[in-house]
Amino acid sequence: MCGIVGYVGKQQCADILVNALKKLEYRGYDSAGIAVHSEGKIKTVKAKGKIAEGLEAKLTNEGKPVGTCGIAHTRWATHGEPSDINSHPIGNGKITIVHNGIIENYREIKEFLISKGYVFESETDTETVAKLLDYYYEGNPKDAIISALNDIEGAYALGIIFKDFPEKIFAVRKESPLIVGKGNGENFIASDMTAILEHTKEYYLLEYGEIAELDGENIVFCDMHKTEITKELSVADWDLDAAEKGGYEHFMLKEIHEQPEVIKTTINPRIKDGMPDLSECGITPEKLKKYNKIFVVACGTAMHAGLVGKYVIEKIARVPVDVDIASEFRYRDPIVSEGDLVIIISQSGETADSLAAMRLAKKLGAETLAIVNVKGSSIAREADMLIYTHAGPEIAVASTKAYMVQIAVMYLLAFEIAFAMGKIDEAECRRLTSLLRETPDVIEKILEDTEDAQYIASQLITADSLLYIGRGLDYALSMEGSLKLKEISYIHSESYAAGELKHGTISLITDNMPVIAVATQTDLFDKTISNIKEVKTRGAKVIMVCREGYNPDKDIADFKFGLPDDVENLIMPMAAVVPLQLIAYYTSVLRGNDVDKPRNLAKSVTVE
Ligand code: M6R
Repeated sequence: MCGIVGYVGKQQCADILVNALKKLEYRGYDSAGIAVHSEGKIKTVKAKGKIAEGLEAKLTNEGKPVGTCGIAHTRWATHGEPSDINSHPIGNGKITIVHNGIIENYREIKEFLISKGYVFESETDTETVAKLLDYYYEGNPKDAIISALNDIEGAYALGIIFKDFPEKIFAVRKESPLIVGKGNGENFIASDMTAILEHTKEYYLLEYGEIAELDGENIVFCDMHKTEITKELSVADWDLDAAEKGGYEHFMLKEIHEQPEVIKTTINPRIKDGMPDLSECGITPEKLKKYNKIFVVACGTAMHAGLVGKYVIEKIARVPVDVDIASEFRYRDPIVSEGDLVIIISQSGETADSLAAMRLAKKLGAETLAIVNVKGSSIAREADMLIYTHAGPEIAVASTKAYMVQIAVMYLLAFEIAFAMGKIDEAECRRLTSLLRETPDVIEKILEDTEDAQYIASQLITADSLLYIGRGLDYALSMEGSLKLKEISYIHSESYAAGELKHGTISLITDNMPVIAVATQTDLFDKTISNIKEVKTRGAKVIMVCREGYNPDKDIADFKFGLPDDVENLIMPMAAVVPLQLIAYYTSVLRGNDVDKPRNLAKSVTVE
């Protein structure tokens, strides 16, 4: 979603701002702009479309604003279509702002400002904030900011510049994340660290109710009473390489290949003497024993990770687990109470629905456990217990390595719950934990040869629609495979429980319709084969993702992707998701799509 950057220092800032915006492209956007203190004015250049074709082209034509202090933005349209006029920065030459989030009461504020003679140009909620600041501004930026924030309801992060203060940037936030980067003779604001990583790793996390005022040398924080506050400086542990493509054609491919490493980084510190140990995250066997029920709440791929977790926890720990889509959970009046554990899974830690669901669960008395990738994110900070996945920055919109470590953590949790509850003995817990430890090698091997995935992709590129089918854990995986494919290839696809097809969906099968059948679970294999035959006899082109040792006859499948035979059923999803990711990736590449930044999508979904 929208991205914010700001720079103040000694260097010309136009290029710095544009390059930093490019680092935020992965978040998803449809217009971009910069505003720079330039020759006694605030000069704004903004344009609809991608940075290269829109903003950069305009800067080349119109000339780059000269100046060493400015703010910049990538906008993902919510209020008002993507257009030059609705793009940020927005302002009147005296005060200019960039804004992430949504102002819920913008209509009332707009009416009030119109009654005071203000004329609006854009359809955005952001313009109400810019004009409200102007309304309150009497020479003191902080006074104006405090008065305006008192009137505003909603979620926001704001970067603000005032013409009267040509060497300063002001920043505030509520809900939407914003960091203040500390450089050497230069300082930054940014909505996420990747934007400024090439300049600095040191940053402050801005909290709700705090105002940051920065110039090239100093960063000063105060609260809403203008009382100065001291904040703790954090250091990002992501290095620049992690946010670069490193020789791969796309971030998605790089992130798929990083999976073996990130599994190790995530699980190894949580395994002590061969046993899972999550005590460092506030999770102890005593706690795990007492929960009546477990809920997993998340969105998209993170929710699919929760589904794998459900199968595994229920299978070995015999505790009921409900998996909910966060946007449904928060409005369905869920029956959650004290004694329940609600697990929130989120890569970004900022997904609006997941955050709201977590707050609701807390209010209802449940304990919350967050499984989050981005350090210091809102979900991470508000959860009762926290397990960080150490996937590093995930830049591609399509989540791959983050999903992998989310399920790795769900496995560790399942083993620990099962052992704490006496459902498995120590020997079994050790055995399962060591199987988990072997998965990086298994995945490494699968990644050595991606030719079959490329061939399968070549068979899909002309399809209008396809189905993914599976049973049990394979069904949970087929949902993820289907989402991955549709979000980046733009081919319609659905996942179905294989046994459910004949209750309606099988009527969709026509000659050559591709069906990807995930059939790795040996206990369900014969049942799945029966379902595959049902679609094959109706003309489907069947692609099986199954164990290497199985060689399907032509009346069952047209092609197979073989997975190692010796991986145990329970652990198999960690291996089996890899071909599904690769098939989606190569299909998108072959169709000539923007793999890392698929249309209409945003990496971090901070609106509900
Ligand atoms: O940051 P989160 O994990 O909370 O994001 C949840 C979903 O928006 C995300 O998984 C989305 O479905 C991905 N684009 C899938 O690849």
